[in-house]
Amino acid sequence: MAGGRTEFSSKLGVIAATVGSAVGLGNIWRFPYEAGTHGGGAFLICYIFFVLVIGVPVICAEFTMGRASRLGIPGAFRYGHNSRKWEGIGYLGILAAILILGFYSVVAGWTFEYIIESVSGAFQDTTADERHIHFEDFISGWRAVGWTICFLIINAIVSLGGVQKGIERVSNILMPLLFLILLAFCINSAFLPGFNEGVSFLFHPDFSKLTPDVILSALGQAFFSLSLGMGCLVTYSSYFSDRTPLVKTAAQIAVLDTLVAILSGLVIFPAVFSFGMSPAEGPTLVFEVLPGIFNLMPGGMIWSTLFFLLLAVASLTSIISVSEIVVTFLSDEFKISRVKSTVSVTSITLVTSTLCSLSFGPLKWLNLFNIFDYVSSNILMTLGGLGVCIFVGWRMSPADAREELHGKAGVPMWLYSTVMFIIKYLAPVCIGIVFIAGLL
Ligand code: TRP
Repeated sequence: MAGGRTEFSSKLGVIAATVGSAVGLGNIWRFPYEAGTHGGGAFLICYIFFVLVIGVPVICAEFTMGRASRLGIPGAFRYGHNSRKWEGIGYLGILAAILILGFYSVVAGWTFEYIIESVSGAFQDTTADERHIHFEDFISGWRAVGWTICFLIINAIVSLGGVQKGIERVSNILMPLLFLILLAFCINSAFLPGFNEGVSFLFHPDFSKLTPDVILSALGQAFFSLSLGMGCLVTYSSYFSDRTPLVKTAAQIAVLDTLVAILSGLVIFPAVFSFGMSPAEGPTLVFEVLPGIFNLMPGGMIWSTLFFLLLAVASLTSIISVSEIVVTFLSDEFKISRVKSTVSVTSITLVTSTLCSLSFGPLKWLNLFNIFDYVSSNILMTLGGLGVCIFVGWRMSPADAREELHGKAGVPMWLYSTVMFIIKYLAPVCIGIVFIAGLL
């Protein structure tokens, strides 16, 4: 315990919780359709490049802030100096977390409905049009709001358990389960007639597809998928022990997160090609196309149920990490109990996510869902990522940063210098380009 702050109790717990945060709708829902609409292999190469070269060092930067200060955001931005000048970046992160909770829990809620419908065999013998109408109908009504509320209540229960008995314990159970389900899907996928076509779509790079737009989407996707830019990993690392090796953990998260994204691609594309669909279907791929495909397979009901269970598990561990940003913030800054901070976060989110959910129905004119998504992903997360790099690279004392990354269970000096070089120069430049391009 550092200064009485709880810590994750094991190495497995650290990996399960952080990978649980990273692996989410971003990997299973967003990655396949981003890759599908941006030319497959060419997108994948850019994505992997950004994860390794920019992603890993930025994870290291977030970890450095969290563990050095033993505070979530915005507290970590006060570390090592007394002014409150940098705190504003932290508050942007808190705002981003509240916005993400609003729309992410809506999509997470949909997965519950689709689990129930898969079990009851509702997708059997349906046409694409029927599924489309059904989906539109469902997301625009109060049933979707109900499922979102269920999701938030489960999230609150985990959060009330605290870091060790809530987050760590649940992640230790759910993450192995997630990998098992994914493995079952991969084995099944290898036997589909469209396997080779799916694999070659995902891995065969067509460099003529490499436009600036593809490159920007790949960087944005890398940030979203690794949970970067809003203090999520700052918050989790404030509960790491001094023995947790930061650079190694960052690399492990990046590898496992990318593995899940690629495996999801290997599950989805062969299925799409086997049943003569287009991989460039976009965001509705998962909810409208896949249930139809699964029900054409032998044992379709089971596959479809397992798939939405996979999505639900992945979203839950991610939502937990986003809400923890705000829970930790309230507890750190206002010295209130976890119960009070959890109740506050849940109450706010119940309101915002209901408004987001109704954006598909009565509140279509307002469309908060898209606004929240756009503002958090395109503006706040990029600014936050930039802020973290500049803070760790230029504001924090170099001795403190070196102690976290090189001193305590650290890496050799040359690797530390490389990571620091990227944090100081390369990452801010790349993130800056994405930000400006995103606004244009
Ligand atoms: N990384 C998660 C996903 O891939 C989403 C997520 C969780 C996230 N925490 C975050 C995104 C913090 C940005 C910042 O679905």
